[in-house]
Amino acid sequence: MKILIINGPSLNLLGTRETNIYGELSFEDYFDEIEQHFPEFEISCFQSNIEGEIIDKLHEADLEFNAIIVNAGAYTHTSVAIGDAIQAIDTPVVDVHISNVMAREDFRQVSYIAPYCVGSIIGFGLDSYYLALEYFRKFS
Ligand code: DQA
Repeated sequence: MKILIINGPSLNLLGTRETNIYGELSFEDYFDEIEQHFPEFEISCFQSNIEGEIIDKLHEADLEFNAIIVNAGAYTHTSVAIGDAIQAIDTPVVDVHISNVMAREDFRQVSYIAPYCVGSIIGFGLDSYYLALEYFRKFS
């Protein structure tokens, strides 16, 4: 099973960005851990700070991948266009957030993406990605 993780803006800075919220591990180091934990999956990762690149990747991935995990970062709360792109594709998408966005500022409690996803996993630190992969392991 081929799974793509898409990370949005500023998630390239994990490990140094607001470590009190997002932790001290870089995504590259975490990615090594999940790859070891899910040897049955072929997992790829794409990060972009640019909305249109994320949309292009979702369109491309629809043909290439069996499942997608998206953390759209701040675009979650602003991007009708990313929500539309998820709605437009057939591949199942799980929405993931490291922090508990429901316990943060009001603007983070709005998602233009969650309604088009299979479900959302929010607030388990980087292990939100692990839990999304577990979901695909169980149901694939
Ligand atoms: C985030 C939550 C968003 O509100 C924020 O803009 C991010 C990260 C998370 O994973 O907790 O960049 O998506």
